[in-house]
Amino acid sequence: MTVPTRPAAETAPAETAPAAPRRRLHVITWGCQMNVYDSTRMGDVLAPLGYGPAASLEDADMVILNTCHIREHATEKLFSELGRLRRLKDARRAGGGRMLLAVAGCVAQAEGAEILRRAPYVDIVLGPQTYHRLPEMIAEAEQAGRAVIATDFPPESKFDHLPEAALPAGGVTAFLAIQEGCDKFCSFCVVPYTRGVEASRPAAAVLAEARALVARGAREITLLGQNVNAWHGAAPAGGEWTLARLLYALAEIPGLTRLRYTTSHPRDMDDDLIAAHGALPALMPFLHLPVQSGSDRILAAMNRRHDAAAYLGIVERLRRARPDIALSSDFIVGHPGETAADFAATLALVREVGFAQAYSFKYSPRPGTPAASAADQVPEPEKEARLAALQDLLAAQQHAFNQSQVGRRLPVLITGRGRHAGQIAGRSPYLQAVHLAAPETLIGREITVTIVAAGPRSLAGAWPAEDEEHAAA
Ligand code: SAH
Ligand code: SF4
Ligand code: F3S
Repeated sequence: MTVPTRPAAETAPAETAPAAPRRRLHVITWGCQMNVYDSTRMGDVLAPLGYGPAASLEDADMVILNTCHIREHATEKLFSELGRLRRLKDARRAGGGRMLLAVAGCVAQAEGAEILRRAPYVDIVLGPQTYHRLPEMIAEAEQAGRAVIATDFPPESKFDHLPEAALPAGGVTAFLAIQEGCDKFCSFCVVPYTRGVEASRPAAAVLAEARALVARGAREITLLGQNVNAWHGAAPAGGEWTLARLLYALAEIPGLTRLRYTTSHPRDMDDDLIAAHGALPALMPFLHLPVQSGSDRILAAMNRRHDAAAYLGIVERLRRARPDIALSSDFIVGHPGETAADFAATLALVREVGFAQAYSFKYSPRPGTPAASAADQVPEPEKEARLAALQDLLAAQQHAFNQSQVGRRLPVLITGRGRHAGQIAGRSPYLQAVHLAAPETLIGREITVTIVAAGPRSLAGAWPAEDEEHAAA
């Protein structure tokens, strides 16, 4: 999701509880935005039990490790982190206290039993579909004094059992999960196994959560799903809506200035959704649309169910609908069977599209997926060389894209304080970070900023933008 996987963030849960919580919670989040969202929701589920954010890890009464299974060494990374947490837990016990330790997320789903075998001091293991049951699991772990595991795919949806979305005071941007799971079974990917089959939340639930987020200060909402554009939820008045229809409804919520959705699959980019990009000013002109490879042979081996021409066709139609749209993608180099010619086709596709931003990975075998047992694995040095070449090209494109903003006036949604005193920070329509000197009273507003400089990952802006200054004079 999401942009899947990238930012490995250590996040504290949303500040939903009063200043001095009775019990202190610390959540460590790895993986995609869906995991970031899930971590917030676990905080929401625990708030009625008196849990609020801990000042630090050492201070916590409960630590949740929300894990990701997509990269190599995910399991080893988990066990080394658990070793560190075990020492904290032992120290707490030596002082007469108690620290509950829970492992959640996709590694928990895939390797729950192994976790309890290798780390018997873990109190709770729960998959991504069961976190609405956390209160019962905590009670059970505390009373029985033994580990509790919940990695089934329960018949009830966790979304029906969650408290209303909470948002840290003043949070200007928010995630909203609308879809979960995946039925696509790409050759390399663990997600269909860890997140289960595709499920869409009903439109009414999504709209209600969006309104609640806006009431708490959100101005930009990113709809989340492992395959978000495959969303087809129950419509409020019967029947079903597509993602395009849902976006039109969301765009009508007063105060909701910006909409995004991630991560999409090219196969589900239908005409209505493409048209929505032209019709809805709130829908930001930036789309993360992973292509993985530019070679038709490898796309087939990956079971992506589209070819390079189909992807280029979608990009062309998107650009016709919304000429200023910028694109982002995910790439895998060194999938089993990838030859030098296949890799050259990936570089050619990148040159043809021109990406504003992208994520690229070396193929890494994930146990249980079809590609992991393929005979024609690509040697490691070859993968490394291809990744370096691809990343050079993508970095140059990103740099050029950022540079092309210099001198432009962009609407920037101000999200918070900047790194330095007197600075505030925000987001451009293209998800670039923008820093500028301006008053903090602008936080939460979308303002017009003149871009004065561009770095590899962020932009510097000036406010008021030039002609607004003239207008004021
Ligand atoms: N649903 C999204 C992707 C989710 S996983 C989609 O269909 O595009 C996020 C990204 O991780 C993928 O797009 C892929 O580029 C990368 N990835 C997944 N499994 C991988 C593996 N085994 N090796 C390397 N990269 C992988
Ligand atoms: Fe994984 Fe493919 Fe599903 Fe994306 S579409 S989550 S890459 S199986
Ligand atoms: Fe997300 Fe990682 Fe799971 S990318 S869906 S947390 S395997």
